[in-house]
Amino acid sequence: MAQIILVTSFKGGVGKTTVSANLSYCLAQKANKVIVCDCDLESRCLDMLFKIKKQTLFNVCDVIAEKCAVESALCEIENCENLKFIPAPAFYPEAIQDEKSVDLFTEEAVGRFVDKLSEMADYVIFDLPARPDVLYKKLILRADLILTVSFHTAVSIRAAEKTAIAISEMCESENRRVPDVRLIVNAFHSGGAKKGSNAGLYEILEKTKIPLIGVIPYDAEMVKQQEKGNLADECTSPKSHFWNAINNVADRIEGRNVSLFNNVNVGYSNNKLF
Ligand SMILES: Nc1ncnc2c1ncn2[C@@H]1O[C@H](COP(=O)(O)OP(=O)(O)OP(=O)(O)O)[C@@H](O)[C@H]1O
Ligand SMILES: [Mg+2]
Repeated sequence: MAQIILVTSFKGGVGKTTVSANLSYCLAQKANKVIVCDCDLESRCLDMLFKIKKQTLFNVCDVIAEKCAVESALCEIENCENLKFIPAPAFYPEAIQDEKSVDLFTEEAVGRFVDKLSEMADYVIFDLPARPDVLYKKLILRADLILTVSFHTAVSIRAAEKTAIAISEMCESENRRVPDVRLIVNAFHSGGAKKGSNAGLYEILEKTKIPLIGVIPYDAEMVKQQEKGNLADECTSPKSHFWNAINNVADRIEGRNVSLFNNVNVGYSNNKLF
């Protein structure tokens, strides 16, 4: 059975999709079978990060509605045979809380979908939207690990905290076990922390009760490459600090104990970051 991982935050644009793409690629490079699903029904974009050129025939909604077999919706990722991808629909205006979504994303249908994926992989990763819709709420109930992504800004940290509280409430209201929720501090730039214009790590840890699973540095080169459809691993030699930080998160998910800034230089001595 696979570990079910959700990547989320109620704040938009904090790197959920970037983390989903690179983390799933990284776990696959470590010889795990990984399936990553774009569940941002309103605004899909994971296909662009994976440079999927041809229009795919089926998407997550088709699989959940059992219009096709899971296998028919799986897309191959270039140079990474262990990683498979299921896109979100190109257009899904009914995504938010209307009758069609409620009918389609029943707990049973979403449960069957997750179970099928789980039989085929070691890790199944879901990239979620910032706004919780019906599918989001059903996936939460099936998660083993939830990665809440945050910049080191006050609003973003507050959103992460709010996300974690909402997840607990969603699970408790359904009498479900609350999954393991962890914080990824993304786009960390030590200059901001040093000057005090952005939160330092101590401040973040004081503001939120979510245990930290990784700190990923700000990386302008990664953004440039992302525009061209390149993942961090493919475009940097030697491996970038961004990629090494993703690798550290993957190691921790696999149960290895690696230090917070293992092979990651964020620019200043670590003391100043705290
Ligand atoms: N570590 C990083 N360093 C620099 N830029 C980053 C980093 N992580 C993400 N970004 C950039 O931030 C922008 C938003 O990233 P992304 O689309 O992954 O966020 P998101 O949370 O999925 O957004 P949405 O809420 O719209 O789904 C992108 O331009 C991405 O390249
Ligand atoms: Mg996204």
